[in-house]
Amino acid sequence: MTQDELKALVGQAALQYVAPGEVVGVGTGSTVNKFIDALAAIKDSIPGAVSSSEASTARLKALGIPVLEASAVEALSVYIDGADEIDAKGYMVKGGGAALTREKIVAAMSRRFVCIADESKMVPVLGAFPLPVEVIPMAAARLARQFEALGGSARLRIKDGQPLVTDNGQHILDVTGLKISDPLAFESEVNQWPGVVTVGVFAHQKASVCLLGTPGGVRTLTF
Ligand code: A5P
Repeated sequence: MTQDELKALVGQAALQYVAPGEVVGVGTGSTVNKFIDALAAIKDSIPGAVSSSEASTARLKALGIPVLEASAVEALSVYIDGADEIDAKGYMVKGGGAALTREKIVAAMSRRFVCIADESKMVPVLGAFPLPVEVIPMAAARLARQFEALGGSARLRIKDGQPLVTDNGQHILDVTGLKISDPLAFESEVNQWPGVVTVGVFAHQKASVCLLGTPGGVRTLTF
């Protein structure tokens, strides 16, 4: 099975967590795109979705799925999203698609985070994937030095020759060389640094379930 087929498998499997009559939280990325495509088939059973990015909003709307403002919804029963890395406790690295801030907000609104991922995303320790950190641009150089002091190496994410600008008008640092053995403590620490908007470690908003796509089918992990 190709990676794309594994993504489609878990995207389809995530439908079982969508409750009829309830708004669903929708993440961002190529795996979530498969989920959005599958969701279109049952769109009449839900009032709509709260989206974590302009990209997902566009895809949802194109398929006729209503998109609600996060501020109009008190809480969500479920949030479906992918991950760049997930460990055996459900802690994740996210933000490869630059949508981490809104993803964390929608995850925090949700009682349950269902992570959908192909098996390549499962890791023993977080940190092999470059850690995305959304930052206020004027703080980027100083924050890069702070990550260097931790043994990491931070690079400003570039798109089309310019610093990438997120949906929130900020920049992204990608940090390599970190071994994040205590994700809760790491997330709390980096959250304190002035100029950090969101660190891409999802430990306080970890997954409650992971649907892992494997050649043998979908493995359901609960945390
Ligand atoms: C988007 O900002 C990310 O957090 C995605 O959830 C993550 O990068 C996974 O994306 P793919 O499903 O495309 O691998």
